[in-house]
Amino acid sequence: MKKYDFDTLVDRRGSGDVKHAAMQQTYGRDDLIGLWVADMDFATPDFIVDAIRERLQHPVLGYTVEPEDFRPAIVDWIASHHQWEVKPEWLSYIPGIVKGIGLVVNCFLEKGDKVIIQPPVYHPFRLIPENNGYEVVFNPLIEQKDGTYAMDFEQLERICDESCKLFILSNPHNPAGLVWDKDTLRKLARFCHAHNILVISDEIHSDMTLYGHKHIPFASVCPEAAEISITFGAPSKTFNIPGVVSSYAVVSDEELREKFFGWLEASELAAPGLFPPIATIAAYRNGEEWRRQMLEYVQGNVDYVADFCSAHLNGIKALRPQASFLVWLDCRGLKLSHDELVDLFVNKARLALNDGEMFGPGGQGFMRLNVALPRQVLAEALERLKAVL
Ligand SMILES: Cc1ncc(COP(=O)(O)O)c(C=O)c1O
Repeated sequence: MKKYDFDTLVDRRGSGDVKHAAMQQTYGRDDLIGLWVADMDFATPDFIVDAIRERLQHPVLGYTVEPEDFRPAIVDWIASHHQWEVKPEWLSYIPGIVKGIGLVVNCFLEKGDKVIIQPPVYHPFRLIPENNGYEVVFNPLIEQKDGTYAMDFEQLERICDESCKLFILSNPHNPAGLVWDKDTLRKLARFCHAHNILVISDEIHSDMTLYGHKHIPFASVCPEAAEISITFGAPSKTFNIPGVVSSYAVVSDEELREKFFGWLEASELAAPGLFPPIATIAAYRNGEEWRRQMLEYVQGNVDYVADFCSAHLNGIKALRPQASFLVWLDCRGLKLSHDELVDLFVNKARLALNDGEMFGPGGQGFMRLNVALPRQVLAEALERLKAVL
């Protein structure tokens, strides 16, 4: 069996990647170790690059039809990994998941409608509806003793009114890396069904569960969930191809599907470009072994961080993610103000992490650390933190 290499340093500077090219503008300096933007510093797997390269052998990059195996590859992957039987006609390409949120907002909402999200959560969940003129209502998660979070259903009853028409679920939940259990998802589905609320279930991190956790697709938990939901998925995070833009929507309910897919098709938004289907098929048909080895390496990095924090970083606790390569660092024990905390990471330790505040209420005092990188760089980052503490 091929052993993949996650230890080799890949110099991304000069490739225009956001993590490095936007560092100066975001942090005011560009001499930091980049541990923020959620893509990996590992090389994109060879079987994907080879598939794209093979297509490049042809001298014409003209208009193309969707390859025959595009939908079957997605259907088979979801069935074998998440035991959810999706029909090919339930699928549509979308030009990105964040853009997909904007598309749903514009297709389904009307003036005065509101959107519910559960912070601390991936910041575009707030920004996209707000930028499109819709009010966002918070149902903050409840922090548990062990550092994980739970949904607050009593609070959800209180904050929800008849203007709330869309709920955006992060499943698994970014930034804390939570896998939601079936009972919670079912309870949420019944609540939203009863209140006539459409649910976007963003499942981009679903193929990266760690420590034996199992992802449960929202739409699969009960008939009510299937009736009210649009699921977003992609091979982009798992296989490190977010620049290819290979996302898709799954809608099992016929009425919802006709409305959303019809709206997408009216503007040809559901037509993939040349490379996304090629990358998706290569990832889903050939990627299982790479995915397994990558997750083993990432889990090793998570353990490394958690152990290092308890041994050397007094005041910082790492929450081991149940899914994803993002570690939610609880830095409240340092007793620093927000500005002092950012200054410590950026100007003293020279590390670029995502500041927890950007994820909304509950994110204060936290930092989000991306551990999808060679361990020696991660070790260097942690040593820098130790030195300044
Ligand atoms: C929960 C979640 N959704 C969506 C995205 C981005 O998806 P896309 O690149 O398809 O817009 C990310 C990237 O970090 C994410 O964490």
